Amino acid sequence: MSGNRTFTMIKPSTVSDGVAGAILARIQEAGFRIVALKLTQLSLHQAGIFYLVHRERPFYHDLIAFMSSGPVVAVILEKENAVEDFRTLIGATDPAKAAEGTIRKLFAKNLQENAIHGSDSDENAMIEGSFFFSGLEQF
Ligand code: CMP
Repeated sequence: MSGNRTFTMIKPSTVSDGVAGAILARIQEAGFRIVALKLTQLSLHQAGIFYLVHRERPFYHDLIAFMSSGPVVAVILEKENAVEDFRTLIGATDPAKAAEGTIRKLFAKNLQENAIHGSDSDENAMIEGSFFFSGLEQF
């Protein structure tokens, strides 16, 4: 059975563009409930841990430098079938391949600065959510 929570992070270039609020509005309009939310900045080390699964990929060092370059908005979201529905809402990782109307199609610049992260499984949603939030910060 699929879970009802996912984790998302609005990326630094998107926060500095001033569109985090517009993106959160779209997420809520799509039926997701905010369980936890914070504006925070990852250190290079923390970004390296968050994206450790990609450590062998050629883009890893650029990715973690970018993800620690400024504040992000970290959010835990709740909805039935959350992981899959959220990935549909944000669109393909590469914005050039993202469907019309998706968040990445509307707000992403390129593959790295692709506006927003979304967990790819229920297990990773739990791991990523608890990377940013304690139980006391989840409502
Ligand atoms: P995200 O959903 O945050 O998960 C991993 C990130 O790595 C992904 O979004 C992209 O920003 C980035 N990424 C994935 N593939 C590539 C690639 N081929 N080149 C550069 N960055 C990539």
